[in-house]
Amino acid sequence: TDQVPFYGPVQAGIVTPAQDRLHFVAFDVITTSRDRLIQLLEDWTAAAARMTAGRDAGEIGATAGILEAPPDDTGEAIGLPAAGLTLTIGFGPTLFRDATGKDRFGLAARKPAALADLPHFPGDTIDATISGGDICVQACANDPQVAVHAIRNLARIGMGVVSVRWSQLGFGRTSSTSTAQATPRNLFGFKDGTANLKAEETDLLRQHLWAAADDGSDWMAGGSYLVTRKIRMMIETWDRTSLGEQEDIVGRTKGEGAPIGQGKEFDEPDLTSTSIRPDAHVRLAHPTSNSGAHLLRRGYNFVDGSDGLGRLNAGLFFIAYQRDPRTHFVPIQLNLARHDAMNEYLRHVSSGLFACPPGVSGPDDFWGRALF
Ligand code: HEM
Repeated sequence: TDQVPFYGPVQAGIVTPAQDRLHFVAFDVITTSRDRLIQLLEDWTAAAARMTAGRDAGEIGATAGILEAPPDDTGEAIGLPAAGLTLTIGFGPTLFRDATGKDRFGLAARKPAALADLPHFPGDTIDATISGGDICVQACANDPQVAVHAIRNLARIGMGVVSVRWSQLGFGRTSSTSTAQATPRNLFGFKDGTANLKAEETDLLRQHLWAAADDGSDWMAGGSYLVTRKIRMMIETWDRTSLGEQEDIVGRTKGEGAPIGQGKEFDEPDLTSTSIRPDAHVRLAHPTSNSGAHLLRRGYNFVDGSDGLGRLNAGLFFIAYQRDPRTHFVPIQLNLARHDAMNEYLRHVSSGLFACPPGVSGPDDFWGRALF
């Protein structure tokens, strides 16, 4: 069926085979009341359990309530299936201690060391108004209306407690997260996700994806850390670049997606060979070049219209999950930011970092309960 179970030891939407559509939102908490925040997390969890099962956000539903009050569901998903909807929550560094250093909710002592602010990377052009946030929710589904409906209803339920800081729509997954999926393509036209961590690689997932109790924050056991980067891709410039140069920049062929010098998509790149350039993306991002670090990438293409200069405002909304960004995203991105030949065609415009807690065990549990 097209329904992904909501309850479980880990949150859905991480190793779940990547769906086709994304609506990602970051909220700021605008109440100072710890109790109101906890109540919202309980309300959100109940609504998320319903919506991921293909039901209305509220118990009464979009059309069955009294005429004198706004409905407890907004209605645009009436008649639509669950469409593989997953909702995944994460907590940003500012929830634990805000930008002014204030511990609004008595959580500062619970802040995981792995949630250390990301450094400024060479070449970064980060817009703070579309970065960060106290809480994020990633909605993924195979129908864009289902994903948007879910985020809209969470924002509606959160009125007065949270406000939307920024949000991003994505179409076309740019990764596969299961060996059962065909590798999709990103807006450079290349297969993306070939060498990604996959749901079937349980040993690697244990080592590189899931936080463990003895990592330092017991409430994060079975959780994972999420890094988002909105990366504008200069596609008009890319489209005037020769095929050979495009392939050399990526380090893979455009058709098959094979490492340069090899024949098949899933052949292991031979990094001892000089046929893969020193500044090729796959060489610099490969675990061998980064002390063995693997990421689980789960990004989406975006086109936010055009930019007024005749160019598409397009790119990759990069999403990566990992056990510890300090040993995974940060060193890999430092390597890429310094040396990647692809940088000429890229601009990082937003950045996010969130601690995604373990899964919700059942109707009596709620998102992040172990944190509070
Ligand atoms: C691999 C594209 C940004 C990490 C790849 C591949 C492509 C690609 C085409 C080869 C296929 C594959 O194995 O998935 C892009 C584009 C980007 C981008 C277009 C920006 C718009 C990033 C960033 C990171 C990253 C920001 C992490 C900091 C990786 C990793 C691999 C990879 C870890 C696998 C390398 C391997 O083990 O062979 N990327 N990428 N990429 N990319 Fe990116």
